Amino acid sequence: DWTPDSFVEETVTNLKNQLGNDKVVLGLSGGVDSSVAAILLHKAIGENLYCIFVNNGLLRKNEFESVLEQYEGMGLNVKGVDVSARFLDALENVSDPELKRKAIGRVFIEVFDDEAHLIKDVKWLAQGTIYPDVIESVSATGGPSATIKSHHNVGGLPDFMKLKVVEPLKALFKDEVRRVGASMGMDKALLGRHPFPGPGLAIRILGSLTRENVRILQEVDAVFIDNLKAWNLYDKVWQAGAILLPVNSVGVMGDERTYEKCVALRAVESTDGMTADWVNLPYEFLQKTSNEIINKVKGVNRVVYDISSKPPATIEWE
Ligand code: XMP
Repeated sequence: DWTPDSFVEETVTNLKNQLGNDKVVLGLSGGVDSSVAAILLHKAIGENLYCIFVNNGLLRKNEFESVLEQYEGMGLNVKGVDVSARFLDALENVSDPELKRKAIGRVFIEVFDDEAHLIKDVKWLAQGTIYPDVIESVSATGGPSATIKSHHNVGGLPDFMKLKVVEPLKALFKDEVRRVGASMGMDKALLGRHPFPGPGLAIRILGSLTRENVRILQEVDAVFIDNLKAWNLYDKVWQAGAILLPVNSVGVMGDERTYEKCVALRAVESTDGMTADWVNLPYEFLQKTSNEIINKVKGVNRVVYDISSKPPATIEWE
């Protein structure tokens, strides 16, 4: 019978046999899958697991620092690589969603390849691939593999992609991954994190992507997510986030007429992201959150709530 404990025991033994004294590189995303994969591998091979956590400047507010600290606290051999500027430069004036994804994928591959080259004699690339990723290729959502494919067509395969691949979670569903993580004593908050897209806030900023727009959206998103947690709603929602719209609208502030940005809040229920329903968040919650966003975040004077289900609307707006 499958139990998380027996899975851990068996997998760690197998990884030890498979990897011996080889060095392994793994890209951490801050998400559940790569984190659980890292802890499993760390149990098996310890310091020979080299984790890389890239700050693309499109993460949630304070996410890079706090998640990096958490990884270090778990004893992982992790290197935080802050290349925000490189990503944001590559995205300047890019507004087409697919071009954003391509630019982000290209820079990520360059950065990761450079970092992998710094690890002497690295033999393996570890990935947090889970079973649904295997059957339903990530390329369906325009994810990393699609980017890698298009990169491959132009520039040839980057060196890290020629490494042997190890994917310890390949046979598991998401809930099993969470149970495996829990049985290894991983933090509940980490295991319960909402999915977050690889291109991050870039695909939640409609229109022109500027550093100022990223900062505004990080502030708005932080108010929304912190309030969901404070109201014990975070765990009842499958995914939530804020979207910065390319729309200014008129408002009043004191005696002044304002003409400022509008943000949309989105919170959905889902099991796999393929279909989703908007969540019926309490009016009081929306009221308080909207007031807080408008009061706290300079440049925003209007908040709307997205009441569209998937299909036909997607979860992300881009
Ligand atoms: P959609 O917007 O297609 O999103 O309904 C379904 C799920 O996929 C995530 N998503 C992405 N994840 N790279 C990712 O890693 C992407 O380019 C991407 N686009 C969407 C989205 O956040 C949701 O969980």
